[in-house]
Amino acid sequence: MTIAALVGTQWGDEGKGKITDVLASRADLVVRYQGGNNAGHTVVIGDQQYKLHLVPSGILSKGKICLIGNGVVVDPQVLAREINYLRDLGVDTSNLGVSAQAHLIMPYHKALDGLEEESRSLKIGTTGRGIGPAYVDKYKRLGIRLGDLSSKEHFERALDQVLPYKNRILEKIYGQKVFKKEEIMAEYLDYAELIVPLLTDTSLVIDENRLKGKNILLEGAQGTLLDIDHGTYPYVTSSHPTAGGAAAGAGLGPTRIDEVIGIVKAYTTRVGEGPFPTELKDAAGDLIRERGREYGTTTGRPRRCGWLDAVILRYSARINGLTSFALTLLDVLDSMESVKVCTAYDYRGQRLEHFPTDLDVLKECRPIYREFPGWKKGLSSIREYQQLPGEARAYLEFLEEEMGCPVKIVSVGPRRDQTIILGSVF
Ligand code: IMP
Repeated sequence: MTIAALVGTQWGDEGKGKITDVLASRADLVVRYQGGNNAGHTVVIGDQQYKLHLVPSGILSKGKICLIGNGVVVDPQVLAREINYLRDLGVDTSNLGVSAQAHLIMPYHKALDGLEEESRSLKIGTTGRGIGPAYVDKYKRLGIRLGDLSSKEHFERALDQVLPYKNRILEKIYGQKVFKKEEIMAEYLDYAELIVPLLTDTSLVIDENRLKGKNILLEGAQGTLLDIDHGTYPYVTSSHPTAGGAAAGAGLGPTRIDEVIGIVKAYTTRVGEGPFPTELKDAAGDLIRERGREYGTTTGRPRRCGWLDAVILRYSARINGLTSFALTLLDVLDSMESVKVCTAYDYRGQRLEHFPTDLDVLKECRPIYREFPGWKKGLSSIREYQQLPGEARAYLEFLEEEMGCPVKIVSVGPRRDQTIILGSVF
């Protein structure tokens, strides 16, 4: 029995969907613990590509219990669409459960996400899905939870608390049209028919399965540098994608988590605004973007691309207490003459070994690189670690040293089978 948390070590989009899918085949239960449909996980099985935003990628492995935990914010329209999309593709969704304590994304959250972003002088570059405003209401104790959909009276009472206030903001501050209570009621009570049967005490289900000795995977979205506390604030998301967030967002004690696996992309990407020391604005960056298909799953935005940053990886190892890592998209670097890894920053002539918490410092950090010879060989058909070219193994071994934990999985292509397993998680 193992409980493992899977976290992104960079700015999200590290390929967590694929690794979750690989691990889910050995897990009994997969749980999403934070974020919402700002995430986009792409999984390729055979010739079929699946794009998921809310439902845990584990749904693609037969017979797994998949849960959306209390820490997630749920847009019921997206959840309904995703369940129907999966059913249309013949995927069994009967083992899906959603926490009654998870908060709902409401139409005014989506409207305010765009309006607030527009009115800011400092743009965050949010995904515009209402994620931030939904978490704001959660912490203001003005949120509406999925459990409130169980009865018309509950839902109406909760909506009466918040809607007049939101409408005043929309009308008086932004000069926008207000939302009509009856329209929201009709729309959301319609979703309720699909969602209420899925409501579950997810924390209890996790614990019951733990006591039965089952393997449990806690699936994170986004990444460490997008964490509301530990990320590059204010260019962050509104939740805790880090390992600490897994315990709170799934509803289990931190002592129950046996393994924390960091997902490391073989290079770095970022969407949205904010400093990015190893960003490449040249042909090498374009090559990575094209080979890595680095365009957002959720928004289609081209991602900013750069070399791998070991300062970030050491920071992530610390914040998450990583016990191992999975390296993804290694094959994207196949044609490179040489591959660089940033090992420290130069800040006004001073060498920084640790990721700075002050964004003004980070903005001025210049990367200090270590250069590795490229392997210049296609890796996507390799399945054994020993068959990897020496140059690629040297790159991996260097990362193990930097992060202080072993690599357990190497991904050399988007397909489920394009995976090298070095150590077991479950
Ligand atoms: P929000 O989560 O939509 O509020 O966006 C806040 C910041 O997090 C923006 O810079 C987004 O681009 C970024 N972000 C949110 N979700 C993801 C993700 O799944 N991958 C990468 N970046 C993300």
